[in-house]
Amino acid sequence: MTYVITSSCVDIKDMSCIEECPVDCIYEGDRKLYIQPKECIDCGACEPVCPVDAIYPDRTLPSESVVDKDENKAFFYDVLPGRDEPLGAPGGSMKVGPLDVDTPRTAELPPNPEAD
Ligand code: F3S
Ligand code: F3S
Repeated sequence: MTYVITSSCVDIKDMSCIEECPVDCIYEGDRKLYIQPKECIDCGACEPVCPVDAIYPDRTLPSESVVDKDENKAFFYDVLPGRDEPLGAPGGSMKVGPLDVDTPRTAELPPNPEAD
């Protein structure tokens, strides 16, 4: 099991989740954040702090958000636009910093109406 950040995070990026994660496995993309599935220890600390309920355990994702499990994985294991190799498992988002890139599917999502 792992936790997944769904597209409800797009254009919101509240960042409360990143402060809660004890293993620093939540990484900042351009429009949303992504959980590294192999680094997540399934502690669940991130889930209740998200103001837009964007975070779920992968097994309880709403049907419309099941695609986000693959999206979180793709952020780390596909070669993202403008990069030469996959991010993989960097071992902590603090040392990586904001990445200014998203998966192609996320980059093309319409603006989130919940965002200011
Ligand atoms: Fe971190 Fe949330 Fe996993 S706090 S360890 S990403 S369940
Ligand atoms: Fe996004 Fe919620 Fe974290 S909006 S940045 S998943 S607290």
